[in-house]
Amino acid sequence: MLHDAILLTGGGQRLGLYHAERILDHGRPLIVTYRTPRPSVEHLVSRGAIAIQADLSSTDGIAACIQAVQTHAASLCAIIHNASLWLDDAHIAQHPADFSAMLHVHVHAPYAINLACEPLLRAGTAHLSDIIHISDTGVRSGDAHHAAYMASKAALENLNLSFAARFAPHIKVNTIAPGLILFNDADTADYRQQRLQQSALGFEPGAHVVWQAIECLLNNPYITGATLPVDGGRHLI
Ligand SMILES: NC(=O)c1ccc[n+]([C@@H]2O[C@H](COP(=O)([O-])OP(=O)(O)OC[C@H]3O[C@@H](n4cnc5c(N)ncnc54)[C@H](OP(=O)(O)O)[C@@H]3O)[C@@H](O)[C@H]2O)c1
Repeated sequence: MLHDAILLTGGGQRLGLYHAERILDHGRPLIVTYRTPRPSVEHLVSRGAIAIQADLSSTDGIAACIQAVQTHAASLCAIIHNASLWLDDAHIAQHPADFSAMLHVHVHAPYAINLACEPLLRAGTAHLSDIIHISDTGVRSGDAHHAAYMASKAALENLNLSFAARFAPHIKVNTIAPGLILFNDADTADYRQQRLQQSALGFEPGAHVVWQAIECLLNNPYITGATLPVDGGRHLI
């Protein structure tokens, strides 16, 4: 059983994997969830992480994940809800059930995990523990091609407020709202150009800027109920 562990969802690739590696670099006990088996996850396990395979797109999958976390953790110092499904509205038109899958991953899973893990977050040795939701800065502007995705992330940001109120003063609850952080391999040159123009700072920063925001929230004892944009000044455009 791990004590004072950090639970990170969706840690098998890209931003989640970067955060998982940094948590282990700091010598912190880590429980990481993944959906797709990958060498990256085996590497995290070889470094000491406990890896839980979990599909968070259904109620049963969420319940199984919670049960596994409770099996492995005596206490948690933080939960980072990073897992995400990035599906556009053209996809949802062809696969309507996947809107529900996004709602499960972005809303139901954080909701159920936060409630079920409250005793573990209160059982840690630190005076304060943390929940960090990873949202999307596009929630504030909307997105002509990702209405379902943005609606589900907006619901996550609203959960943030309710959990911050409910869990104060012992558990801080915050959201990080990234803008463009890391392109996907399949992104076209036109899309990349358009996304770069959506931030005042105008470059692809990589995962480290989100990790810096996570560290900031973990280290600061007086921020709760906040949504921190990490988006290169998107509101200035
Ligand atoms: N990258 C950006 O520029 C950007 C911009 C705005 C917001 N964000 C937010 O930042 C976070 C990380 O972004 P990212 O680009 O690294 O995301 P990503 O590449 O899409 O990875 C998301 C992770 O979520 C997991 N996941 C997907 N569906 C799942 C399911 N049904 N059950 C359990 N896990 C599931 C995936 O697991 P497997 O790989 O194991 O299948 C994957 O590791 C996300 O919350 C995203 O919304 C990112």
